[in-house]
Amino acid sequence: MKSIYFDNAATTQIRDEVIEVMTYALKNNFGNASSSHSYGRTSKSLVEASRKSIAVHFNASPGEIIFTSGGTEADNLALRSAVRDLKITQIITSKIEHHAVLHTSDQLQKEYGIKISFVPVDQNGELNFEVLTDLLKMNEKSLVSLMHVNNEIGNLLDIQRVADLCQEHNALFHSDCVQSVGRYPIDVKATPIDFFAASAHKFHGPKGVGFAYIRKDSGLKPLIFGGEQERGYRAGTESVHNIVGLEHSLKMAYDNLEKESAHIKGLKKYFIEKIKTAIPNVLFNGYSGDLDKSTYTLVNVCMPISEEKAAMLLFQLDLKGIACSKGSACQSGSTQSSHVLAELLSDEVLKYPSVRFSFGIYNTKEEVDYVINVLTELTGN
Ligand SMILES: Cc1ncc(COP(=O)(O)O)c(C=O)c1O
Repeated sequence: MKSIYFDNAATTQIRDEVIEVMTYALKNNFGNASSSHSYGRTSKSLVEASRKSIAVHFNASPGEIIFTSGGTEADNLALRSAVRDLKITQIITSKIEHHAVLHTSDQLQKEYGIKISFVPVDQNGELNFEVLTDLLKMNEKSLVSLMHVNNEIGNLLDIQRVADLCQEHNALFHSDCVQSVGRYPIDVKATPIDFFAASAHKFHGPKGVGFAYIRKDSGLKPLIFGGEQERGYRAGTESVHNIVGLEHSLKMAYDNLEKESAHIKGLKKYFIEKIKTAIPNVLFNGYSGDLDKSTYTLVNVCMPISEEKAAMLLFQLDLKGIACSKGSACQSGSTQSSHVLAELLSDEVLKYPSVRFSFGIYNTKEEVDYVINVLTELTGN
């Protein structure tokens, strides 16, 4: 049976070259980076060389990169410390953010009684900049948290515009860049972002490692206490193999960005053309059908089909060897719902199944052909 992985927004296959680098480190660089002997010093120098190399991609200083267990922890670090240590009284965000931001904000509201203000989005997920500007004018010490690329609908944020607005109004700006790091250039000197989150498993690196970019002298303080690792920002013995894996996967992503993004964009374009022909009444959620306004890595499609067909769609796709993500808010038998689609779509449209197909470097046009054929068969078009 065929096996097709079109769920690269959930996680990506680790590159062989990254596995090699990590395996070498696991075998040979097992020293604790805090030890003063040669084993420790070797590990320490690998961690610091990785930090330096990572910082260069973002025009940042090495000291502004803090290794974490992934994107969720990096989001938590920025939001939680901003409220606790920088006395933020308002988080300005949107209802289509990742739960790593939304649930953390909810929790902070409970713990500190801060205000959470949501910038409204329209049916395409487009942010209302007028409201954002009005919220920034309020007499609050604000942190704006808006993601660079939406993981469900792929919408691209005008990160420069938001960063400039925040700077103009003296607000801090955090961006969840988990879906954009390794896929889009980010320059923290040109774009005044205060904090951003990244995760290696989204760009063909290992799981369980990521980093927070924390602008120098921001005043953030640690969430995890213990040893002095990560310049006191994050205690715990450094995961050397994961850190070198993160560095190598990021380097490969940016070194090959032009070629690989062209390949992935080509697949998305081809998928859009093919599905429009195969299922003429298909709908694209958010801006995911628009190559200029959404990431080149994913589409989120709503298929207006009967309830019986809808009920079996994902199950059938899985049976045909196709891995993709459910996007619909209320598919039969499903207990999970998409808070993003629920925010954008009418109840009528939400009745139909939505599916996210996300592409990566290892996918091919033949795989798109196969998936479109299966979809055609399953939707009865
Ligand atoms: C936009 C976004 N933010 C945060 C995360 C969480 O990252 P991690 O899995 O590294 O904790 C994800 C991953 O699903 C994501 O897509």
